[in-house]
Amino acid sequence: MEFILVTSQAQPNVALIQLNRPKELNALNLQLMGELRDALKQLDEDENVRAIVITGNERAFAAGADIKQMAGKTAIDMLNIDQFSTWDQIRKTKKPIIAAVSGFALGGGCELAMTCDMIIASETAMFGQPEIKIGVMPGAGGTQRLTKAIGKAKAMEMVLTGKFMPAEEAEKQGLINRVVPVELYLEEAFKLAGEIAQMSPVAIKLAKESVNRAFETQLDEGLHFERKNFYLCFASEDQTEGMNAFVEKRRPEFKGK
Ligand code: CAA
Repeated sequence: MEFILVTSQAQPNVALIQLNRPKELNALNLQLMGELRDALKQLDEDENVRAIVITGNERAFAAGADIKQMAGKTAIDMLNIDQFSTWDQIRKTKKPIIAAVSGFALGGGCELAMTCDMIIASETAMFGQPEIKIGVMPGAGGTQRLTKAIGKAKAMEMVLTGKFMPAEEAEKQGLINRVVPVELYLEEAFKLAGEIAQMSPVAIKLAKESVNRAFETQLDEGLHFERKNFYLCFASEDQTEGMNAFVEKRRPEFKGK
């Protein structure tokens, strides 16, 4: 594994996955997501693991999908690569996953945290779906999960303006479980994971499946719709302009083409 660190017994019966591309603020490139998929599959099959914590570092949980890797892609490339199909494994993981978030959780980073079952945040955490600023839209569940978590009006504003939501507000809106001082967020996530790890693994698995079932049929359809629209953004000149502007560190000029 090059971009993640896995400790299967970070605490008794609790595994830890740390995203580890600190220089790039843990931008989620294809390789990292492949590694994450494989690690989750392994941990899900490991009977000594009863709960999983995913974290980044103090500065960033993850600043989104890797814009540099996507910048030159066409809609057909995106359709063929189908990068978000890797994400389905996270959703299929039967054991509970807790995201321990500090710093940036943006775009795919926010989507990854929301795909987990619970979120513990440090007081420096910032959640956001800023894809609109680079000429695209969320593609890994943001339009669906954020809307279900905080309601249409707030989600619409975040998705259409790219504005960030600080941890304290995210807690008020029900996006996350709780906020703790930065030196405690990982410990707090372990505490929660440890508590869950003491319950019956069978009951935990069935209970998680049932809570998810509350919105899953609708979610499947919504995710499919969103994914296709995200790939379609890559047919626009605005996507090329938006992502190139990010890479070249300048303001984009969008033309609606
Ligand atoms: N992809 C690739 N590289 C990224 C990145 C990303 N999403 N986010 C940050 N980086 C890189 C930067 O390019 C920079 O690299 P260099 O040192 O080589 O220039 C490095 O990480 C540090 O970033 P900054 O210098 O920009 O740090 P900052 O503190 O000034 O700003 C930030 C931090 C506000 C998070 C800014 O980096 C930023 O806006 N990042 C992009 C956020 C974003 O748009 N995310 C959505 C991506 S698209 C997506 O996720 C689609 C989806 O639905 C899955």
